[in-house]
Amino acid sequence: MSRSAHPAGPRHADVLPEGHYSAPPADLNALDPKVWARTVARDEHGVVTVGGIDVKRLAEEFGTPAYILDEADFRARARAWRTAFGSEADVFYAGKAFLSRAVVRWLHEEGLNLDVCSGGELATALSAGMPADRIAFHGNNKSPGEIERAVRAGVGRIVLDSFQEIVRVAHIAQSLGKRQRVQIRITVGVEAHTHEFIATAHEDQKFGIPLAGGQAAEAVRRALQLDGLEVIGIHSHIGSQIFDMSGFEVAAHRVVGLLKDIRDEHGIELPEIDLGGGLGIAYTSDDDPREPYEIAKALTEIVTRECEAARLGTPRISVEPGRAIVGPTAFTLYEVGTVKPLEGLRTYVSVDGGMSDNIRTALYDAEYSVVLASRSSDAEPMLCRVVGKHCESGDIVVRDAFLPGDLAPGDLIAVPATGAYCRSMASNYNHVLRPPVVAVDGGEARVIVRRETEEDLLRLDVG
Ligand code: LLP
Repeated sequence: MSRSAHPAGPRHADVLPEGHYSAPPADLNALDPKVWARTVARDEHGVVTVGGIDVKRLAEEFGTPAYILDEADFRARARAWRTAFGSEADVFYAGKAFLSRAVVRWLHEEGLNLDVCSGGELATALSAGMPADRIAFHGNNKSPGEIERAVRAGVGRIVLDSFQEIVRVAHIAQSLGKRQRVQIRITVGVEAHTHEFIATAHEDQKFGIPLAGGQAAEAVRRALQLDGLEVIGIHSHIGSQIFDMSGFEVAAHRVVGLLKDIRDEHGIELPEIDLGGGLGIAYTSDDDPREPYEIAKALTEIVTRECEAARLGTPRISVEPGRAIVGPTAFTLYEVGTVKPLEGLRTYVSVDGGMSDNIRTALYDAEYSVVLASRSSDAEPMLCRVVGKHCESGDIVVRDAFLPGDLAPGDLIAVPATGAYCRSMASNYNHVLRPPVVAVDGGEARVIVRRETEEDLLRLDVG
């Protein structure tokens, strides 16, 4: 058993690995393909380009800060997941990582399904034309209003998270004259983060119904008795930013164990298993994520093996990757405002955004990298901390990074791997306006989520 860590990395600076970032990279101008979207490169002048457009033009046209999303990369990653799992399994993109109507349309076109976890995400999905039967509705406290909208719309599945919700959804479906397809989310006693997982007593959290003590079996028993529900399967999600497949192995073993108990007690084999999301991406060059086909192969083998051992037919598998699809496809483009060297310590580089557009560093001690994007430079590396413009000393975007020593106000810098959980967790702290999301593809750029304006802020403030 190993030490627990936050999904996004060590929570406190003092547990960062010793000597971390102690040496500058060999080439400050290099763009490691592990952390950058696929079409990112430097042009002959040293300017970073994406989808054939250079960042100086993007900054001029759309302003900074801005999330720049590589559409071809998004589509390629979505397709890679779809292809890896083939027709025998379903891929539900987890909209919480980043959702917009353009994204919904891309997913639809690439043959993926969608996991939503609020009325707002459901509304976005439906308004962009995602067929309701390809939507899964999640959440540990869906309101009756949200449930009713989901049932009326005809969502493909609602993932039930508590005993109360089993009754609530059954009642709402029945009163609408419908029978809702549902999965029951269970907690299997596995918590997995990054390179570690813990397989003991990790049911102490708000999601799902514990397998322990027969509670999950009791939930299935109750759900099977209710006319408003069609129980199609069991759901398990064990964590986020996971590289190690052993947590999934234990989870699959335990989920299949429950399917076997259900078969033995009720004489039915539930047809589906959802193993959730959580597959990790590279935030820095130190991370080594797995490819979708390796993950698909590993998960399919685990479930097939476990089902054979339990003499069960293999259920249809589904997965819910969010970060692994959108995370690497975007970077945040900032303009440097001030460069402040602190003698004997480091240089503080202030940008025109911060914790309002990327809360992950402050919240999870997440690690990011950064490059000078508007030009290349041969200057000596300097140890920097990239910070935002918020009134808070924890407003850090990149904790430790080397940037060229000639960095100056007006330079553009870019932070890769910000496609997941940055725009979707953005805030208006200090009444800072949330940046736009600009999609680039084939030499063209277009805003898919526009920049917030002061009018937007004032419209909500009714005085
Ligand atoms: N399915 C369920 C039921 C989930 O709860 C989640 C994420 C996913 C799928 C997608 O997980 P992914 O593949 O994106 O790791 N804000 C945190 C991550 C929270 C994840 C919550 N649930 C972060 O920035 O790291």
